[in-house]
Amino acid sequence: MTAPLIDPFMRAITYLRVSVTDRCDFRCVYCMAENMQFLPKKELLTLEELDRMCSTFINLGVEKLRITGGEPLVRRGILQFFEAMSRHLDSGALKELTLTTNGSQLEKYASALYAAGVRRVNISLDTLDEDKFARVTRWGRLPQVLRGIDAAQSAGLRVKINTVALKGFNEDEIFTLTRWCAERDMDLTWIEVMPMGDLGGEDRIGQYWALSELRETLAQEYTLVDLSERTGGPARYVQLVETGQKIGFITPLTHNFCESCNRVRLTCTGELFMCLGQEDNADLRSALRASEDDSVLEAAIREAITHKPKGHDFDYSRQEIKGQMTRHMSHTGG
Ligand code: GTP
Ligand code: 5AD
Ligand code: SF4
Repeated sequence: MTAPLIDPFMRAITYLRVSVTDRCDFRCVYCMAENMQFLPKKELLTLEELDRMCSTFINLGVEKLRITGGEPLVRRGILQFFEAMSRHLDSGALKELTLTTNGSQLEKYASALYAAGVRRVNISLDTLDEDKFARVTRWGRLPQVLRGIDAAQSAGLRVKINTVALKGFNEDEIFTLTRWCAERDMDLTWIEVMPMGDLGGEDRIGQYWALSELRETLAQEYTLVDLSERTGGPARYVQLVETGQKIGFITPLTHNFCESCNRVRLTCTGELFMCLGQEDNADLRSALRASEDDSVLEAAIREAITHKPKGHDFDYSRQEIKGQMTRHMSHTGG
């Protein structure tokens, strides 16, 4: 048995998020600029290298692997990668293989993902209104995503909807989204918008909206009971007594959940970010390419984990935004 990954604050690192591409077929206003400069393809880890990276982490005790992007399903050959990873599910080393997606390609891939051992997907959806959807994603089209969600559910995948809470944009959809998810037996998680990426300051919809307010609004119509269960992610859940439905809140700004952080994130170029809200990263690509022997990579991973910071510094209080990250969310995969 190899020793597990334990950080300086005694947190066991068992969750790896992997961004397999920085590209996306959408341009969400809080995530990307309209004219994004993407990385040249040669900068990306190959699928074989991604396999070696992930397998090494699994060897070091990672039990949950979440594939992200950009949009992970636009990476060519991504299905083979999922199929390759399923061997770690078969061996029992990996407990969960999953992805976070915008849903645009699910119509095509849902059944194959299920066959590769994926059982749950998180799908980003901020509104059920076609015009608003086109506005917030710039390039996305709602019907395509709705067909993707249908395909995922028909394939047997459990769906969680991730909704970024945007003041003046989807405040009026709290109840419609809640009911829609209840009808379809899907979980719903609201996310506070984080100050990521320099998006030019033009976007009026990119407005921070504290989830405590949203909670109060929900409580006008439903009885909310706090749940103690965790999925290994940062969300805190409540149950709506009237529908039995679970609603999650990811509140990096108003409630710091870093003390129980169990994850690190690998970018598509092989940098390991120990925290979503900090710049510090380790170059694992060099370690991987330095030797065919995985022990070099293992040592680099262990070294990196000794730098995992206590938490992020996002803070919208006062007038300026503190902890602002110049990095885009698509770089680290959320
Ligand atoms: P579950 O397995 O369903 O719990 O997923 P998850 O919440 O870990 O994953 P998902 O990709 O759905 O994450 C939703 C969003 O939560 C991410 O895209 C980020 O916006 C945010 N998030 C996830 N992890 C962190 C974290 O460590 N720090 C911060 N600040 N935000 C995070
Ligand atoms: N703040 C909060 N959430 C964000 N996401 C992308 N950018 C941001 C941001 N600035 C979300 C997406 C998706 C997940 C991968 O990250 O909507 O649900
Ligand atoms: Fe693409 Fe997701 Fe970013 Fe939107 S939030 S641009 S869907 S990566």
